Amino acid sequence: MEIIIQPTALEATAIAARMVAAHLREKPDAVLGLATGSTPVSLYKELISMNLDWSGVTTFNLDEYIGLPCDHPQSYRSFMWENLFRHVNIRRENTHIPDGNAVDVPAFCRGYEDRIAAAGGIDLQVLGIGTDGHIGFNEPSSSLASRTRIKTLTQRTRDDNARFFGSVEEVPHHVITMGIGTIMEARQCLLLAFGENKTRAIAEAVEGPITASNPASILQMHPSARVFLDSESA
Ligand code: GLP
Repeated sequence: MEIIIQPTALEATAIAARMVAAHLREKPDAVLGLATGSTPVSLYKELISMNLDWSGVTTFNLDEYIGLPCDHPQSYRSFMWENLFRHVNIRRENTHIPDGNAVDVPAFCRGYEDRIAAAGGIDLQVLGIGTDGHIGFNEPSSSLASRTRIKTLTQRTRDDNARFFGSVEEVPHHVITMGIGTIMEARQCLLLAFGENKTRAIAEAVEGPITASNPASILQMHPSARVFLDSESA
């Protein structure tokens, strides 16, 4: 694990953005794994301002809520179009986000894994972290070998994400998420975590034992994982 600590989130994000940009320039048909949440918003802003060529890029998002209409403002599909896709020249057919309205969720999840494999695997995976150490929506106790599947959110994550909804009751209980095994197959991982509310999750992930109680701790086993922190999260 490489730990990159900067005084501010903006400075850390700028370095992460330069790494993603260098990757896209080197490999114009790169396969990116993308994350949602408030943390990567500035990363996407920075990437948009760089005027990169996204025409050959393929993306796979980590997760999606189950049951929200896909045009719901808090669906991760809406998030990605609002914060990145509509500002760059990516092809719609090259963007992949789990379908939270799939009729047969297990079949959809198997198909998602197949599409990642058919694209050649994920070159670079962007990650945030939940206050309980989750990556994607792999909550504590998720199998460290898990694949894309349905998960039930913990009350803590629903409380954390209630700020995006009118109230905690409106936060869905179920989600589709890439598994930890899926994430670990990405050739590079960039995890961004900023602010004091991430300090504990990061300390456990970086310095603690590898444990399903903190799913991000598995990144200690990843051959190329970088963790970007500001002074507060560090
Ligand atoms: C959600 C997402 C995660 C994200 C986490 C942290 O639960 N599924 O991928 O890392 O939120 O969000 P934030 O960046 O808003 O703290």
